[in-house]
Amino acid sequence: QHCFTKSPDGFLYCEDTKVQDIMEKVEKRPFYLYSKPQITRNVEAYTEALEGLKNSIIGYAIKANNNFKILQHLRKLGCGAVLVSGNELKLALRAGFDPTKCIFNGNGKILEDLIIAAQEGVFVNVDSEFDLENIVAAARIAGSKVNVLLRINPDVDPQVHPYVATGNKNSKFGIRNEKLQWFLDAVKAHPNELKLVGAHCHLGSTITKVDIFRDAAVLMVNYIDEIRAQGFEVDYLNIGGGLGIDYYHSCAVLPTPRDLIDTVRELVLSRNLNLIIEPGRSLIANSCCLVNRVTGVKTNGTKNFIVIDGSMAELIRPSLYDAYQHIELVSPAPPDAEVSTFDVVGPVCESADFLGKERKLPTPAKGTGLVVHDAGAYCMSMASTYNLKMRPPEYWVEEDGSVTKIRHGETFEDHIRFFEGL
Ligand code: LLP
Repeated sequence: QHCFTKSPDGFLYCEDTKVQDIMEKVEKRPFYLYSKPQITRNVEAYTEALEGLKNSIIGYAIKANNNFKILQHLRKLGCGAVLVSGNELKLALRAGFDPTKCIFNGNGKILEDLIIAAQEGVFVNVDSEFDLENIVAAARIAGSKVNVLLRINPDVDPQVHPYVATGNKNSKFGIRNEKLQWFLDAVKAHPNELKLVGAHCHLGSTITKVDIFRDAAVLMVNYIDEIRAQGFEVDYLNIGGGLGIDYYHSCAVLPTPRDLIDTVRELVLSRNLNLIIEPGRSLIANSCCLVNRVTGVKTNGTKNFIVIDGSMAELIRPSLYDAYQHIELVSPAPPDAEVSTFDVVGPVCESADFLGKERKLPTPAKGTGLVVHDAGAYCMSMASTYNLKMRPPEYWVEEDGSVTKIRHGETFEDHIRFFEGL
């Protein structure tokens, strides 16, 4: 069951609510629209897949979407959190996440953030020699021992856009196996500061083949065998995040959370490990679309353009990764509307400002609603205020069909406030 559907008469619905009706009720500007029940269903898909794997943790990668209301909802559903900055860590704690279900990741963690992590008792992934030194220093300052996992870079190709590949041997993340012994010796040398509890890897994002996860998991359990052979009692295998979603709405059969978990289940059980996974996109992306209005239609040379009020400022993935996100109109086109091939662009002063290229759509009238789908992950969290576009408000449709604002839109006054008193 998916939250966004087209009715036979051509109107887009979010669950049982007409998107056009929502547009008429809320502020006249681009906005993000979520389905709360879809988020619940996405979490349940993971929870059900993990049945039989005791003490497993779903660590939601907050970078995908840091809306506070969404975080609270995910926490209530039992998720932990994966963090890459001190602010993400503080936000997770404020949203009530259980620190023992939180994992602090990153290749450039700074001392002051590591001190908070040490005080709060979250898991910390060790990424490099200097990172280990900083974690030791933080443990001393906080006066507490830190539970660490070694982030191993397994050199498995995730077969994705190079900007979202992280587990290749030349990437900036993690440690390579030839250095493993150095890290094990360093942990042994700091028995009061560090407790090694597991190993972590993250291959990349938008992965659509579960064999890739399995290949990495095979390597990882071998490392865990090696680590245990040296007397460490490690219990956790963290296989990171990265499961892709069907951005093309192609109905192609893509792996589900169950396929992902099933492909590593026997390995995890064979070593009596607790599994940690770090999904971001697959928990949140498909629960949301960016709702825009058509400003006008124009033609230049051989190109037809639909110009909308949303832009690369609200949603940068097409510009940054040449990513495809499905686009459709929220209402039926008049029967005489001509269907053409359009680039869907925003008002920002860059030719990189496009939301979709070469899309076949009926020529829309001014003011028509146009949505960019699968906008729940890495869209609002990567939004900027370029051209003073100001970050959009967010709403969700709840289980009972009511529409609630879950984040205020930024305003011109918010911008002016940064200069007050200067
Ligand atoms: N764990 C770690 C260590 C990560 O670096 C990431 C994402 C995740 C988990 C969550 O991955 P997911 O399940 O969401 O694929 N901005 C890009 C994606 C960057 C992903 C960064 N790391 C995009 O819009 O496609």
